[in-house]
Amino acid sequence: MDYQLHHRILVWMEQAAETLKYSLERELQVEEKKSPSDLVTEMDKATEQFFINKIREYYPTHQIIGEEGQGDIVDDTKGTVWVIDPIDGTLNFVKAKNHFGIMIGIFEDGLPVAGYIYDVMNSDLYYGIVGVDVYLNNHPLEPLKISQLNESLVLGNVESFSNNVYNMKALLNVSLGARSYGSAAIEIIGLIRGEAALYFSAGLRPWDFAAGYAICESMGYKVTTIDGSRPDILTRSPILFAHPNVHQEALELLSHK
Ligand code: IPD
Ligand code: CA
Ligand code: CA
Ligand code: CA
Repeated sequence: MDYQLHHRILVWMEQAAETLKYSLERELQVEEKKSPSDLVTEMDKATEQFFINKIREYYPTHQIIGEEGQGDIVDDTKGTVWVIDPIDGTLNFVKAKNHFGIMIGIFEDGLPVAGYIYDVMNSDLYYGIVGVDVYLNNHPLEPLKISQLNESLVLGNVESFSNNVYNMKALLNVSLGARSYGSAAIEIIGLIRGEAALYFSAGLRPWDFAAGYAICESMGYKVTTIDGSRPDILTRSPILFAHPNVHQEALELLSHK
């Protein structure tokens, strides 16, 4: 990991988070994308552009994948690739003014190097550096002990649980129960804090899973698609993030319909 790059990301994320907090004091410009629950605001676009301008200034050879499409068209993962979700949980940002995050994943030749998730309204910055450790506000994070699925909570999307996508109800039945926050960022934070044993989503895009993939990898958690393989940062996939003690059991439950 390039520590100058790491320190720059910390500074940029603090700046972006402050700007997002202040933006909630005025009226947002909200547009619908594909449905009434799929929103984008001027702050999603401005935050993405803020990071892209910084990256292009300091690291012009790096490739950038951003949800709002202002980055590069990336079709190979060679070299350094940044994957950015400027606001994860835009619906929460607009409706609840809470429970949303900024997510950045850094990859080298397709493999995770570092991941950053900023829980903006709690001013909590989580990051993981692969091969080093996971931190909350620069202090190493001590996750709670997870032993078995039947002693744990699970995290996932409410609609996917109720539609039993990938047999998700089996996770509900085996565990103590499910929790859902409407933001992959906040759900992944729940997992890395040890509040739940896993987070599963039936269809995550690269910017939804990149940061969490790198952070979980840094703490020895497993992150795979439904067939047990490593996620591809160019493809939308079902992704299971899980404590190693429950990963295999969860994968089997999800795969049996
Ligand atoms: C969405 C949120 C949501 C998840 C969706 C994502 P966005 O991200 O993380 O919780 O269920 O799959 O697309 O659009 O708010 O960045
Ligand atoms: Ca979105
Ligand atoms: Ca987003
Ligand atoms: Ca997202």
